Amino acid sequence: MRAIVYDGMQDVKVKNVEDPSIEKSDDIIIKVTSTAICGSDLHLVHGLVPNMPKGFILGHETMGIVEEAGKDVHKIKKGDRVIVPFPVACGHCWYCEHELYSQCDNSNENGEVGGYLGYSNTYGGYAGGQADYLRVPFANIGPTKVPDEFTDEQLLFLTDILPTSYWGVDIGGVKPEDTVVVLGCGPVGLLTIKWAAFKGAKRIIAVDRVRYRLNHAHNIYGVEVLNFEEIDNIGEYIKEITNGGADVVIDCVGLDGKMSTIEKIETALKLQGASKSAIEISSQAVRKGGTVVLVGVYGLRYNNFPLGDFFSRNITLKMGQCPAQAYVEPILKLIKDKKFDATDIITHKLSLDDGKHAYEIFDKKEDNCIKVILKP
Ligand SMILES: NC(=O)c1ccc[n+]([C@@H]2O[C@H](COP(=O)([O-])OP(=O)(O)OC[C@H]3O[C@@H](n4cnc5c(N)ncnc54)[C@H](O)[C@@H]3O)[C@@H](O)[C@H]2O)c1
Ligand SMILES: [Zn+2]
Ligand SMILES: [Zn+2]
Repeated sequence: MRAIVYDGMQDVKVKNVEDPSIEKSDDIIIKVTSTAICGSDLHLVHGLVPNMPKGFILGHETMGIVEEAGKDVHKIKKGDRVIVPFPVACGHCWYCEHELYSQCDNSNENGEVGGYLGYSNTYGGYAGGQADYLRVPFANIGPTKVPDEFTDEQLLFLTDILPTSYWGVDIGGVKPEDTVVVLGCGPVGLLTIKWAAFKGAKRIIAVDRVRYRLNHAHNIYGVEVLNFEEIDNIGEYIKEITNGGADVVIDCVGLDGKMSTIEKIETALKLQGASKSAIEISSQAVRKGGTVVLVGVYGLRYNNFPLGDFFSRNITLKMGQCPAQAYVEPILKLIKDKKFDATDIITHKLSLDDGKHAYEIFDKKEDNCIKVILKP
């Protein structure tokens, strides 16, 4: 089959690889109908996640048709159309029972944290879904059957960025009357803005430096936007215009944010888990007693982390990988009831064969790219 594979730092390729097969009795194999590229994939391609061998199949936002099901799969069957949430989860450990699927105790032989599809050996070594076929483990837990009357485009983001953005707003405790700052206007940031508005936030301020993404937030969602490259000390500026800071700041940037020269050197020396530009802005833009949610992915350790700024101002800090399974059903209901739609962020629908080009435009923010869907 064809698959998009990591081929060393800054390089991906579409290659012919071996088809996946059923390895355990509760696995399924799906024939992929749509798969998307995520900001999290860029962290892998940039070499910021350890234990990423050459030839590793990328992709954790995938849906398709069940081609084959192991004998112990009873939730779904051959021929079903399913979306596959990105965390691999057993469904019966303490963490799964408490709906913290992204920290499943039984899905990652290589470490303490949970396993994720297509996300390096550090996170379980599971081949990803930017391919013709995908093996899905624990098929009684993750994959969810979806109705035929909705398009792939309407449903695909249930695999990750819809739950993730919803979760950020949810654990941030966003409520009507709140002022919410969203850092980063990529796919995750834009959907976070939409959910914050859905929850009734009174004022939403979106921050990025990519003009067309800020335009999307302003023109389509009608929120205030700020370009952090046009304003000195954006964190203090936000504090000023919000009279003391936002109730909730949601970082949808992560470790690939804009890096200072010092951060570049420190990252090379492994003193830094890459950029913490968004964390620094968050520490200033939040009000005393407010909440900061790090939805953006971070790794390794951080030198000069502004811990004192958070501590002295009584900030609540929340973060982690989204336990996506927990949010699929409620969001699917909102899609069915036509109360929420995420298709506006799709700018490109390309063939899987165009994978290399797709990664390039998404990474370099070219051709007004926000979200790419690939069709095998
Ligand atoms: N926690 C989870 O479970 C989870 C799930 C999915 C994605 N993510 C993470 O969410 C983040 C965003 O994903 P995406 O697909 O939207 O990525 P993206 O790369 O398309 O978007 C990131 C945006 O942040 C902007 N940016 C860079 N530095 C900034 C700064 N200092 N302040 C404000 N904006 C800045 C970039 O210009 C870019 O538009 C990534 O870190 C991704 O790994 C986390
Ligand atoms: Zn993702
Ligand atoms: Zn588990």
